[in-house]
Amino acid sequence: MTLTQPDRATTTNDPQWWKSAVVYQIYPRSFADSNGDGIGDLPGIRSRLDHLQELGVDVIWLSPIYRSPHADNGYDIADYHDIDPVFGSLADFDALLADVHERGMKLVMDLVVNHTSDEHPWFIESRSSTDNPKRDWYWWRPARDGFAPGDPGAEPTNWESFFSGPTWTLDETTGEYYLHLFDTKQPDLNWENPEVRQAVYAMMRWWLDRGVDGFRMDVINLISKDTALPDGAPGVSGVGNGFPYYANGPRIHEFMQEMHREVFDGRDGEHLTVGEMPGVTWQDAVLFTDPARHELDMVFQFEHVNLDHGPGGKFDPHPMRVSDLKASLGRWQRELGTTGWNSLYLSNHDQPRSVSRFGDDGLHWRESATALATVLHLHRGTPYVYQGEELGMTNAPFATVGELRDVESLNHYRESVIAGHEPDTVLSAIRHIGRDNARTPVQWDDSPQAGFTTGIPWIGVNPNHTWLNAAAQRDDPASIYQHYRRLIELRHTLPVVAHGDFTMLLADHPTVYAYERHHEDTTLLVVANLAGDAVDVELDVESYDLLLSNTEDCVAPSAERLALDPWEARVYITTSS
Ligand code: NOJ
Repeated sequence: MTLTQPDRATTTNDPQWWKSAVVYQIYPRSFADSNGDGIGDLPGIRSRLDHLQELGVDVIWLSPIYRSPHADNGYDIADYHDIDPVFGSLADFDALLADVHERGMKLVMDLVVNHTSDEHPWFIESRSSTDNPKRDWYWWRPARDGFAPGDPGAEPTNWESFFSGPTWTLDETTGEYYLHLFDTKQPDLNWENPEVRQAVYAMMRWWLDRGVDGFRMDVINLISKDTALPDGAPGVSGVGNGFPYYANGPRIHEFMQEMHREVFDGRDGEHLTVGEMPGVTWQDAVLFTDPARHELDMVFQFEHVNLDHGPGGKFDPHPMRVSDLKASLGRWQRELGTTGWNSLYLSNHDQPRSVSRFGDDGLHWRESATALATVLHLHRGTPYVYQGEELGMTNAPFATVGELRDVESLNHYRESVIAGHEPDTVLSAIRHIGRDNARTPVQWDDSPQAGFTTGIPWIGVNPNHTWLNAAAQRDDPASIYQHYRRLIELRHTLPVVAHGDFTMLLADHPTVYAYERHHEDTTLLVVANLAGDAVDVELDVESYDLLLSNTEDCVAPSAERLALDPWEARVYITTSS
């Protein structure tokens, strides 16, 4: 395949420019460190823009870089209008944004407004007295009827936080509890209060005026809650499940439409909005992403990344079947249809590495990473590449709990061990699903700290950087990096990738993922064996040309049958004229 100059998203005047775009997520802490303090930073990102430009991505999404005490690595914001000193300054940010734009890419900020840090001035005011003007900016409630503040079970509801323990913390100053769906240092903002909403919209406009190109909105479907705050039904652990009362609440669509109106209406330029939405159904996703409703361009749904969670939740591992993955992704393709729009992802900073989770990070490492990427990128939707995924970075071999850094894993470990679970079993589940897997430093080369830092990294570098690194892959035509380049180029150059419809093929096959995309006179056929055994399937590709494959010696198909090696992926194209 000849590589041509990508048709960059910035050169179009299409309001839905993001259909032919690919987004690259940077977790700044772990991307590139310029000053040797062991933490990635903005000048570090600037120094690595060549890698992204050569890859061909259109948009960079930065995980939070705002001022923060880092209880949750920046997802706890203390100042929405400043850069945290560990990442740099506003001047560094402006320089990065200028460089990104200069290279024809866009930059999207993380918007974390379901909650702030408990060190945000709004919360400091809010907690200071029951009659402070900002008291109602957060969710404050007295102890449960019949209980004294601090009594066991006195929390206003029985909900369990995403990061273990109750969602309520008692504040001694006023003797009331505040709500935090995540860590105790992440109090939830009260979106019922119009002043809160206006403050958020003003902040968003401030960043857009500074030149950013949009927002990835953190757990945005949690901002509308059932104001009655009812107890949840007890789950496996006996703690109440508050999810039905705080997710996808009654005013969520109203808030999204208001945000669109207040922030984006009448604003020139090409923007991207993507809402992270745990538990969102496809029915709701259609509503959120129908352009006629003016809410969001796309959402991140969670169905496919929850398939390996057992009844006890994410730390209760459950085998993942390819057939379940096909059924789930296929349903989203079908149901979002031509009205809504999908975000396509297999990894991010909250998920284990995709090659370790869905593929084979041993014998078939290269083939499985490229097969998964092929299947994902050629779906209908906007693909997201998480840093290091384009190199096939793998889960980390954390040997002890002392090597972990993530608040979610550490809280879970502590609570589980206190509850009497075997520490090794708990650690083994964390090793499998924990978020630190995605947060080890990007492996740039084979030097002692993988070219990430000259200091001591805040979290250990994966020992496999000696052979798995960007320098080793950049000029190797058979590398995972080069395969991602080719996939991204297909989206830029072939309208059928960006705009075609989707039909699942071989729907009942247990391991082969196959589908067709049609647009005008072109049909694309994607087929991949997502397993470690060779397979032979009934698929007639005789009228097609082979466009791309992830093996060098792919065997020509015989009439009506296709033989695929382990983790082999092929892309065929035909044009009727
Ligand atoms: C979702 C983010 O992706 C995750 O990293 C964070 O911990 C929670 N939201 C809380 O902000």
